[in-house]
Amino acid sequence: MRVEKIGVKRWLFLLAICSCLLSSSCVRVLKLKNDDGRPVYNHTLAVTLVEYVSAVYMSDLTELFTWTCERCNGLTKGFQVIEIIVDVEHCLQGYVGVAKDLNAIVIAFRGTQEHSIQNWVSDLFWKQLDLNYPDMPDAMVHHGFYSAYHNTTVRPAVLAAVKRAKKSYGANINIIVTGHSMGGAMAAFCGLDLVVNEGEENVQVMTFGQPRVGNAAFASYYSLLVPNTFRITHDRDIVPHLPPFFYLFPQKTYHHFPTEVWVRDVSFSNFILLNSEEVCDNTGEDPTCCRSVMGTSITDHLSYFGVELGGETWRQCNIVMSHEMESYSSKDSKGNIFLSWTVPSMEVTESKTGVFSL
Ligand SMILES: *[C@@H]1O[C@H](CO)[C@@H](O)[C@H](O)[C@H]1NC(C)=O
Ligand SMILES: *[C@@H]1O[C@H](CO)[C@@H](O)[C@H](O)[C@H]1NC(C)=O
Repeated sequence: MRVEKIGVKRWLFLLAICSCLLSSSCVRVLKLKNDDGRPVYNHTLAVTLVEYVSAVYMSDLTELFTWTCERCNGLTKGFQVIEIIVDVEHCLQGYVGVAKDLNAIVIAFRGTQEHSIQNWVSDLFWKQLDLNYPDMPDAMVHHGFYSAYHNTTVRPAVLAAVKRAKKSYGANINIIVTGHSMGGAMAAFCGLDLVVNEGEENVQVMTFGQPRVGNAAFASYYSLLVPNTFRITHDRDIVPHLPPFFYLFPQKTYHHFPTEVWVRDVSFSNFILLNSEEVCDNTGEDPTCCRSVMGTSITDHLSYFGVELGGETWRQCNIVMSHEMESYSSKDSKGNIFLSWTVPSMEVTESKTGVFSL
């Protein structure tokens, strides 16, 4: 009886997919044209960046630095790391490097590792909009997310590494900022910072399973300043639904910035056959995208495009580093760790990269 029921359900599901593929409502999935001048979503780039984001969770800094970790393969092969930042104090990790095949500096941030993911997610329900974003009237953000990027060792180290990368690879190189979960929130603040405070022009942001970070006013400023932003959401991932959006008070609550790309698993007999992607509208809160389902899944949060996003183990913030790394590494007074490739041509002239003397 039960088996039959499931069988019928699956049938209906497949039928729905088929009719969807034939109907016009699904053509949106394939429509990549930017009628209104909006940037175009690039699937190839998304599946590449998800691999960069997966690698940032690796705790063996030697393997990460030399780009030989088990997740440092595939589409990210040949990546040149410039800087790894481990903010031990706040348990944050990120890196900056150059992907020649993308003609871009890639900046990636890790999500939270500090608590169990369940605890972190339940805390998200209660995050307040408790900080005015500087110089943007009415724009409010969550202080904690803002500070993770702006008030830690992360920001100065990232900006210095970007300058070093541009010195070696040319000023015209693009910048792609990416991150998963809270790392996605950091990526958004970093992308905005690069545009607003560093005057960078070719900045792209792509995040995976990112929580909301600010209110509607913030979202409007953000999307004007960093239009080339895509927020990938996966099926029923719970995190993009948090902190909550209350429709009755759209101005007073958290509000996503555009553009969401909702990726769903199309499965058959428990095998995931393919991902369908919907490029959502320019409001940031498209009701037909992930908001059309109950977002309750942590499993969906921890894998995007079939790539695992998370540490090898949770509940710890430890790192592993071999002695050979000592000549590349430095520590500040709080124990935060920086691994930098010193680019030979700039050793003499560059005296301003004083991040390490903090
Ligand atoms: C999409 O991104 C890839 C790099 O990942 C690039 O090679 C390709 O040209 C891009 N496609 C478009 C249409 O921009
Ligand atoms: C930055 O962090 C320090 C302590 O780590 C705190 O005293 C200060 O208020 C924070 N500043 C902002 C703007 O959050």
